[in-house]
Order: sequence, then structure tokens, then C-alpha cells
Amino acid sequence: MNYNTIFTDINAKLSSYKDDGAVASYIPELQRVLPNKFGVHLCSVEGMNYHFGDSEEKFSIQSIVKVLSLAMAFEIEEDKLWKRVGVEPSGNPFNSLVQLEYDEGIPRNPFINAGAIVISDVLVSKLENPREDFVEFVRHLSGNNQIDYCDRIAQSEKSKGYRNAALCNLMKSFGNIENNIHEVIDFYFDLCSIEMTCSELARTFLFLANYGKDPINGNQIISSSKSKRINAVMQLCGLYDEAGEFSFKVGLPGKSGVGGGIVVVHPGKYSMVVWSPRLNKKGNSNKGMRFLEEFTSYTESSIF
Ligand code: DON
Repeated sequence: MNYNTIFTDINAKLSSYKDDGAVASYIPELQRVLPNKFGVHLCSVEGMNYHFGDSEEKFSIQSIVKVLSLAMAFEIEEDKLWKRVGVEPSGNPFNSLVQLEYDEGIPRNPFINAGAIVISDVLVSKLENPREDFVEFVRHLSGNNQIDYCDRIAQSEKSKGYRNAALCNLMKSFGNIENNIHEVIDFYFDLCSIEMTCSELARTFLFLANYGKDPINGNQIISSSKSKRINAVMQLCGLYDEAGEFSFKVGLPGKSGVGGGIVVVHPGKYSMVVWSPRLNKKGNSNKGMRFLEEFTSYTESSIF
């Protein structure tokens, strides 16, 4: 299938689409991103690449990193991990505090902020040099040694990170954070600050489209069972309180970030990234979702 032509056609179809979304403003540095940027990249498991628009421009991957930190922590902790974080959709905003009190400090899933902070705590406990070891893991997955944190974005988020600090403190009070809260939260903000292009990110996620094995170099990154589970959590929790809507419209496991990126994987077929910084009220890319809906409908390539 010639996805390049399909991307062009869908983009033309969406030319009259009025995007009333707004760039994330609660992380001051993210407000500087040009709102009308738009990029798409698809990597097939056969090694083909297709792209459109600003697909070679770096953006802040934000919460998309939570899939990669989960993969690393799951590999280290195995099923012990699920004692500290659940696998249920939260039905609440990604940064909500309310549920965590009722659930006694056990986050519903690893993709809401509370869950990703617990995963960060696991990595702080288990990795010798968390910051270096984690970025090395991402470089290994992407086959790209240039991938890095963005200190400007991380510092900006740290300067306003009151809500994440509250989540971390609350979980510490319930005994679900082992390390110093400042260390954990700083590491979490660093993870979210990683910058990648659509093409780098699609390449990085290809192992999840191929049952845990990188189809390009043959490296088994995680077992097929873990890949199945991570995709299942993406399907149910990857877009927070819009996961149902996303499943209904797009029909693929996906993960969004407030930088405007959305990654989807179609097991056995492809990984794909769409980047469009204007977000809807739930913090997910407006046009990104719309584009993916058109794409899976047109190509009849949802998992359902
Ligand atoms: O912790 C935060 O709020 C951000 N660093 C990440 C949130 C995010 O990307 C939610 N995604 N849609």
C-alpha cells in the first residue's frame, strides 16, 4: 500500500478542518511550539518508511515516554510490578489526584502521571545511573545515539510541577514510593522531556508492532507476552479519559503526549506517529486523533 499518497489525500481532506485546540500551556516552554506544525511517519514491520509534513522535526514526546519506561521496568520487575500499579483505565484526567486517595496510593495504570511516577521510582531503585541508563535504552531502541533529554523543557516543567509533586507525596505517604521524592520527580520530568522526530519515534516503537522483536535488526527487546500486555494497556489507558473514544474511532493501541504526539501500533503491520501540537480538553492532539481516525478507516487497518 502506498501510504505516502494516502497521507497526502487525508491531509487534503482535512484542509477545511477547524482545529480549535490549544498548545499545552501548563509547561511554559511548550507554549513556544508553533501550533500548526503537522507531521506523520509510518514504519512497516517489513522495513518500509512513509512520511508526510514535519516528520523530521523534533518535538517533546512527553507522556509517550511512559510506554518505554514501562517496558524497561516490566523487564526488570516482571509481574511484581503489578503489585504497585494497576492495568485498569482510570476514566479520569492524566494528572488527577482524587482516585489515588481512594485507591490508597496504587495508581490505576502506568500511563496516568501517578502510575508513571511509580515506574520512575522503580527505575531509580533498580538502575545504577537512571538518567544515563534510560536514555541509552531509548537510543538502543531507536538505533540513534543522538536521542536526548531537553533540559530547557525539563526545567520548565520542574518550575511548575506542583501537581506531580502532590501525586508523588501522596503515594509516598501510602508507602508506594521508595526513594526521595525529589529524585523520583526530577527523573520523571527528565523522561518526559525527551525530544524525537515522528520518524525516530515510529522506529523506536516498531518492536511493539512486532511482538517484542525489532524487525529491522532482529533484537528481541521484550518477550511477545510482555509486548501483548503493553499494547493492551495502551489500548485501554493510552489516551487517559479519552481511551474509549480513541478505541472507538481509531481502533489501535496508542499513546499520546502533551507535546502533541500520538503513537499507534498495529501488531504485525506497522508503528505510526502523528504530531500536531494543538490539544483538545483531554490533553490529546486534536488533529492527530482526527487524522488517525481517517487513516485506519480508509486503510481498514484497525485491530477490530
Ligand atoms: O507530567 C506531565 O503532566 C507531563 N510531563 C506529561 C503529561 C502528558 O503528556 C499527558 N499526555 N497527554
